[in-house]
Amino acid sequence: MRAVAIAHPNVALVKYWGKRVRAGNLPATGSLSLVLGGLSTETSVTFDPSLRHDRVLLDGREDPETTARVSACLDLLRQEAGVSTPALVESRNDFPTGAGLASSASGFAALVTAGAGALGLHLPAQRLAEIARLGSGSAPRSLLGGVVLLRNREATTVCEQIAAAADWPLQIVVAVTTSGPKAISSRIGMARSEQTSPFYAAWVETHAADLDTGLVAVRNRDFPALAAIAEHNCLKMHAVMLTTRPPLLYWTPATLACLHKIQELRQDGVPVFFTVDAGPQVKAVCLPGAADDVAAVLGRLPGVLQVLRSPLGEGARLRANAD
Ligand code: DP6
Repeated sequence: MRAVAIAHPNVALVKYWGKRVRAGNLPATGSLSLVLGGLSTETSVTFDPSLRHDRVLLDGREDPETTARVSACLDLLRQEAGVSTPALVESRNDFPTGAGLASSASGFAALVTAGAGALGLHLPAQRLAEIARLGSGSAPRSLLGGVVLLRNREATTVCEQIAAAADWPLQIVVAVTTSGPKAISSRIGMARSEQTSPFYAAWVETHAADLDTGLVAVRNRDFPALAAIAEHNCLKMHAVMLTTRPPLLYWTPATLACLHKIQELRQDGVPVFFTVDAGPQVKAVCLPGAADDVAAVLGRLPGVLQVLRSPLGEGARLRANAD
């Protein structure tokens, strides 16, 4: 009744922002992402009949909102297994939690993998993705490795690996500009954007074309084409955020300094582009030879607290020797 899983966060190059259906947490659009193998979440799930209710320790701390989201996923796993036993969930990240580094994606991918493992369930990938999605819309992408496409089909999401980590060894440099949790969660921010941003409809309408362009760029290993669409899509999402009322301004001065520097480096011939999620951290995606220089340059910018390096990584998996 116990299993331990490891999963990595992911960063979307063609992003989703907004829900199609709130019940079931179905994203409004598809997305295309990279899995960051250098950052990890490890989660253990122990079903224990002596517990009265689920307990969730995230980096050693408990909070009711996280526990409610985790219990919603565990309920579906328990339903599949035909049991009602409460669980103790312990999850640790080796990177800052809740600050725009997709800790919820790796967290829920690890949770459903460990939960299904502890219950001895062998669910189809599709079902596991649906259960992970309930926790976080971007979590199904962390179930697979490398470059992952998430598409909505009817009322469900389907994930597909477009390139394995070894197929296109991209490197990601993360410039951390704040260490605390973000002020507004993605879920609340998205609902607010749907209701108030005059750009939201255009974001959704133009999204399928961005996704196709990104997909073709990855399939052709065309770095300049991927750079162009990823930066455009990222800035378009932030235009929606900025025009939300009240505005969602996730950037710090250091975020903006990184964006300018990355564009400058690319103009000088360095193969690098940026993307930023619902937080102030900047992810610089590089061709392999460029990552050392990019990390050194970003690390020297004022306001950059820390630089993390990551290759592409594997999908969520059970840890063999769970003690
Ligand atoms: C900006 O998947 O974290 O990172 O399901 O509401 O928790 P919830 O949202 P979440 O949103 C991710 C938004 C994004 C873009 C992306 O990863 O595609």
